[in-house]
Amino acid sequence: MTSFKYYVGASIDGFIADSTGDVSWLEAFNHEAGVRQSYEEFFAGVGALVFGGETYLWLVKKLASDGEPWPYGDKPVWVFTHHELPSTEGADLTFVRGDVALWARDIAQSAGTKDVWIVGGAQLAGKFLESAVLDELHLVTVPVVLGDGINLFTSGNRSRFEFINRIDRDGQVSEVRYRLAR
Ligand SMILES: NC(=O)c1ccc[n+]([C@@H]2O[C@H](COP(=O)([O-])OP(=O)(O)OC[C@H]3O[C@@H](n4cnc5c(N)ncnc54)[C@H](OP(=O)(O)O)[C@@H]3O)[C@@H](O)[C@H]2O)c1
Repeated sequence: MTSFKYYVGASIDGFIADSTGDVSWLEAFNHEAGVRQSYEEFFAGVGALVFGGETYLWLVKKLASDGEPWPYGDKPVWVFTHHELPSTEGADLTFVRGDVALWARDIAQSAGTKDVWIVGGAQLAGKFLESAVLDELHLVTVPVVLGDGINLFTSGNRSRFEFINRIDRDGQVSEVRYRLAR
C-alpha cells in the first residue's frame, strides 16, 4: 500500500534550511557514501513526489544555475501553490492548491504500487502532518548546528510519532525513521 513519506535532511537542531533558505551546509554531505546510499534506497521506492511552491521554485532556480536537467525522471510530481509557476522540461508536473487531504487519493494513485515522497518544505509537510495524511518521517541528520532557520514542520499539533528504526550509514550522517502515531 502506498505510504506518504517525508524524507528530509536536517541539522542537529532540526532545521531543513537556514533563514535565507540556503541548504549548502546540507549539500556539503552529498558526496558521502552513506548519504548517496540512503537517497538511492529511498528513491527506488518512490512513485510520485510532492513539493511546496517554495521548494519547487528553489529547485528550478538551482537546476538553472547549475545547468542540470530535471532529476526525477518521469515520475509524477505534484506542486502545491496558489501561483503560476514555471514548468520544467522533462518533468511530469501537476500544479494544485487547497486541502492536501482532498488531493491525497489522486496523489497516491499516481504513485502506483510505490510510495509518495513529500519533498517538503516545512509548510507543506506541516499540512500533511496536520491532516494526518503523512505516514512516515525519514530524518537524515547531518552534524551541523544552524542556530536558526526553517524548522522541519511549520505546524504539527503536538503530533506524536513512533520510532521505526535507525539505520547506520557510512560517514557523518544518521538516519532515523518514525511512523505517525494513529
Ligand atoms: N533539507 C531538506 O531536505 C529540504 C527539503 C525541502 C525543502 N527544503 C528547503 O525548504 C525551504 C522551503 O520550505 P518552506 O516551508 O518555506 O516552503 P514550502 O513548503 O516548500 O512551500 C510553501 C508554499 O507552498 C504553497 N502551499 C503550501 N500548501 C499549499 C496548499 N495547501 N495549497 C496551495 N499552495 C500551498 C504556498 O505557496 P503560495 O505562495 O503559492 O501560496 C506556500 O507558500 C527551501 O529553502 C528549501 O530549500 C529543504
